[in-house]
Amino acid sequence: MKKFYVTTPIYYVNDSPHIGYTYTTVAADVLARWNRFIGSPTFFLTGTDEHGAKILESAKKMNREPKEHCDAIAGEFKSAWKKMNISNDDFIRTTDTRHEQTVREFLNKLYTDKKIYKAKYNGLYCVQCERFLVDTELEGGLCPDHKTRPVEQSEENYFFKLSDYRKKLIDIISDGSMGILPEGRKKEILGKLKLGLEDISISRANLPWAIPLPFDEAQTTYVWIDALINYISGCPQNFWPANVHLIGKDILWFHSVIWPALLLAVGLPLPEKIYAHGFFTVNGQKMSKTIGNVIRVEELTDKFGVDATRYLLLSAFPFGTDGDFSMDGLKEKYNSDLANNIGNLVSRVVTMVEKYTEGRIPEGQKSKKLWNELLLIKEHYENLDFNKILDTILKTVDSVNRYIDSSAPWKLAKEKNSKLNDVLSNLCETLWVLAHYLYPIMPQTAQRIWEQLGQAGKIESSNFLLDNKIVFTKVGSVGTEVGSVGKEEIKITRPKIPLFPRLT
Ligand code: MSP
Repeated sequence: MKKFYVTTPIYYVNDSPHIGYTYTTVAADVLARWNRFIGSPTFFLTGTDEHGAKILESAKKMNREPKEHCDAIAGEFKSAWKKMNISNDDFIRTTDTRHEQTVREFLNKLYTDKKIYKAKYNGLYCVQCERFLVDTELEGGLCPDHKTRPVEQSEENYFFKLSDYRKKLIDIISDGSMGILPEGRKKEILGKLKLGLEDISISRANLPWAIPLPFDEAQTTYVWIDALINYISGCPQNFWPANVHLIGKDILWFHSVIWPALLLAVGLPLPEKIYAHGFFTVNGQKMSKTIGNVIRVEELTDKFGVDATRYLLLSAFPFGTDGDFSMDGLKEKYNSDLANNIGNLVSRVVTMVEKYTEGRIPEGQKSKKLWNELLLIKEHYENLDFNKILDTILKTVDSVNRYIDSSAPWKLAKEKNSKLNDVLSNLCETLWVLAHYLYPIMPQTAQRIWEQLGQAGKIESSNFLLDNKIVFTKVGSVGTEVGSVGKEEIKITRPKIPLFPRLT
């Protein structure tokens, strides 16, 4: 089985985690959970970006020592991810000794292989972006993203020979040997690369809160070079190259140009895919501290619960595009997709089994595979097509609800018609399969459905995604095909609380 290594960007510790970061992290978690579920050796890395001028400034503002500040905010990220049920295998911090050591080795290699040289540089630096801006990017002299005036910097720095890799980068991006997704982003990067590529400064002369260059202690490492190397310093043996670097579109250039060029320069393999998702605005505005519209994770989890928050983030708009967020919109989606659709289906089926067959999953003819379409989801996971995953789930739930309406089990029960068993056994089987496909997105909900179907243990131990066999397991025994097991043993249990209580 092919291994799977997925990463998120490492987040700046200048601010507490908000839903922008949560968005990327949940998406990566869904991919990691899916890959573990289908049996791939999986490694999922996230972490925090802790050096540089921006962090130093934010520490000063809060009257804290830089390291003390980083510890505090990194702690907040860790607990936010725990709360969101994020299954990262490691959490890398750029202030970790293991990371600093790898950065030194990486830079030393570049230096000894003569990929770095010293030169004078003059430029306009935006501390919030942590990069130099070129004149054509400015709007009225200001950084277009932060609306602040960049500061003029003139110093002698070390430069990485980025321009040497222009042709190679164009080749590997064009022929798809390093994937950039969605397709539109690939075109954007190729377009820029065709215009030219300049060498970049990789050090700073007067910035103490950074990793000193191993070959010149008077200078420190540029924060972006430091940060990108986390993907190597946090990667266990045999997992490199990354299969997916999941990022926001704002940092695509760093990941699709600078990072692969650095890897080529030290002779390491390139990531398989870089996926840049869109950005969301809140009620039509950019999410920012100044505007005061930053949505914290807890605001969503307090209202909707953890699983629904994961679902709502992913379903808010097509992954890869920009979109707007509003609490009203989320509530509407929660009620329609989760309370009325998925939650209601589970409760309908479980209630009927309890009522008509005393909570036992009956034997029945599998006349109709209601869940056939769900099998297509595998491909959507491979393509990181979260929208198609969610669409397929909702469509299936819709058609199962229609199947219930048209087969009217309540009538069949009244008539003591033996077809009732066929319908109910089909429905239980469908919920069983559905729980598997829901698991990566809403792990706790999937587990609850699993338990309501009378299944013991953890749903993630199920082999269904490996062998496509539906095996209903009775508590404390070996699994047997649904229906052929002694009917008494599996007991459907109606939950006391619905999966997704309707919000008013
Ligand atoms: N530290 C760098 C990344 C280094 S990776 C080697 C950085 N950090 S950041 O804290 O600014 O977070 C960037 C990521 O957070 C974005 O790329 C994106 O994944 C996510 N998002 C932050 N705000 C967001 C939105 N408003 N919408 C969607 N994603 C957002 O850049």
